[in-house]
Amino acid sequence: MESAKSNDTPKEAIFRLFDDKPPSGLSFLDFPEKPLPPPPPCLEFLPSEVSADVKCSMEPVNVAGITLLKGRVSTEEVFALSNSDLVPGKYEGGLKLWEGSLDLIAALSSEMQNGRLSFTGKRVLELGCGHGLPGIFACQKAAAAVHFQDFNAEVLRCLTIPNVTANIKENPQYLSADVKEGGISTESETRFFSGDWGEVHSILDQAAGYDVILMAETVYSISALPNLYKLIKKCLSSPHGVVYMAAKKYYFGVGGGSRRFLSLVEKDGILASSLVAEVADGSSNVREVWRLQLNEFTVQSSA
Ligand SMILES: C[S@@+](CC[C@H](N)C(=O)[O-])C[C@H]1O[C@@H](n2cnc3c(N)ncnc32)[C@H](O)[C@@H]1O
Repeated sequence: MESAKSNDTPKEAIFRLFDDKPPSGLSFLDFPEKPLPPPPPCLEFLPSEVSADVKCSMEPVNVAGITLLKGRVSTEEVFALSNSDLVPGKYEGGLKLWEGSLDLIAALSSEMQNGRLSFTGKRVLELGCGHGLPGIFACQKAAAAVHFQDFNAEVLRCLTIPNVTANIKENPQYLSADVKEGGISTESETRFFSGDWGEVHSILDQAAGYDVILMAETVYSISALPNLYKLIKKCLSSPHGVVYMAAKKYYFGVGGGSRRFLSLVEKDGILASSLVAEVADGSSNVREVWRLQLNEFTVQSSA
């Protein structure tokens, strides 16, 4: 796989999204976003297109009483970047497992227990998937289809596909009774799409629509929010589609956050939002999980 040269990456372009304190006296307005390089092409990958060049070792991760397997790959090996969370427009952080993914799985599990959510037979899209653990959780809970999207093709080929294979194909003992016992007789259809949110709708199955859209730690960059929101509106099935978003309330140093994204949603007035979980465990700034769905007015006027 072709990898980027490390000297392409000026140090100041690397953002650390886990900073838990704002730089003193500064706000996001002090960090104007730089023009980005043109986005990579939109591509679909088959599971057989898994990378043969990069070593991916599996390790368990526990969340809400569930054990999932996650791969570990070197950012240096894949992108020739050492130790960076992300480089905007080039590598968007998908090789690392972010806290929001685990918050999202815990919230989905509790929504299922409370009878507010079922994945059985549903079509699911995970946006900005990286490791793809929330999407894998949906596969385990008998989703009919789970489509994984990431900015970087390398992330899908080196990490997401191996994670799906390890959790679903090689460890079927983790599949829920619905899948194993034939409530839903077949495995979820899994597909893998790379590309920018401004363009990737052209290859996603938006005509069929998605019943559930999942995303974790995707709302950090202010400039990406409008495209992300437009993509959600294009892909969400009507009238019952639902979005679960996990994010930090505010990303210091870059200015995005759950509240910034929700202000966009609110202004548009199509989706209604409700807070599902708040995590303030002291390990980073406050994190949240939100549920979004078409509001009653939108549903009535389109009926
Ligand atoms: C911080 S990572 C989070 C990864 C994963 N969801 C997690 O929580 O571990 C942000 C993800 O959003 C995606 N992303 C960011 N900007 C994007 C853009 N403009 N277009 C498409 N995907 C983007 C990247 O693919 C990346 O995997």
